[in-house]
Amino acid sequence: MSILDKHHIIEKNASYLLIGSLLVVSIGGIVEIAPLFYLENTIEKVEGMRPYSPLELKGRDIYVREGCYACHSQMIRPFRDEVERYGPYSLAAESMYDHPFQWGSKRTGPDLARVGARYSNEWHVQHLIEPRSVVPESVMPSYGFLLNEELTGNLMEEHLRANLAVGVPYDEAMLENARADLFAQADPNADTAGLEERYPKAVLGDFDGDPARLTEMDALVAYLQMLGTLVDFSSYDPTSGYR
Ligand code: HEC
Repeated sequence: MSILDKHHIIEKNASYLLIGSLLVVSIGGIVEIAPLFYLENTIEKVEGMRPYSPLELKGRDIYVREGCYACHSQMIRPFRDEVERYGPYSLAAESMYDHPFQWGSKRTGPDLARVGARYSNEWHVQHLIEPRSVVPESVMPSYGFLLNEELTGNLMEEHLRANLAVGVPYDEAMLENARADLFAQADPNADTAGLEERYPKAVLGDFDGDPARLTEMDALVAYLQMLGTLVDFSSYDPTSGYR
């Protein structure tokens, strides 16, 4: 009598079946989960990733507040059609400072993971004010009111501290200069040497077309312009991890 012939015993007894299923599921679970405990890091390190500058972080907040993620994903999947359309597929490390992440599950509009540096600031502002003025068939809502929302910079340092508390490596200089950096990034006349050192590759200058005022439009466009631009893919070696 083979072991398969005894299968009717567990099939006819709910308790045996339950115990048997739990056993099988736990073996499967351990095989999947246990190796992760022995990996030093599940996120492969890549060069170029840095915490968001205060202005980008503010822009990211507006992105979340306005629910842009309901129509836009920020994760390019490793499929040929996506890579040809959007650029190199997204790396886990590229969202390591995102709390919460913006991968998304719906694409009414295109993926935005690498939209940075693809359009001019003027294009973004025009598109956000009235999407149909640049893309006639667009169903994206208008966000022109962002131009009227001035930023005060209050609580910027606390904002960075909150991110620090969940693991984003903001250092003392970044915290101390949080509010100054927020304004400097969008001010064409500001001394940005410190800012550039703290946040390499930060896009500088006026974003919303009015250098005298710092608005939510400045912040959102600054955020969009840095998306996907931090990692230098001309020097990235996809086989360098997991050695
Ligand atoms: C109702 C769905 C919807 C929402 C909400 C939405 N968008 Fe869009 N978005 C679209 C669609 C559709 C397109 C493609 C047509 C176009 O360019 O307007 C688009 C295009 C874009 C583009 C151009 C992308 C490219 O590669 O050409 C950007 C940038 C963008 N949206 C940013 C945003 C931001 C920022 C927000 C939140 C403030 C937002 N969108 C909210 C639907 C949406």
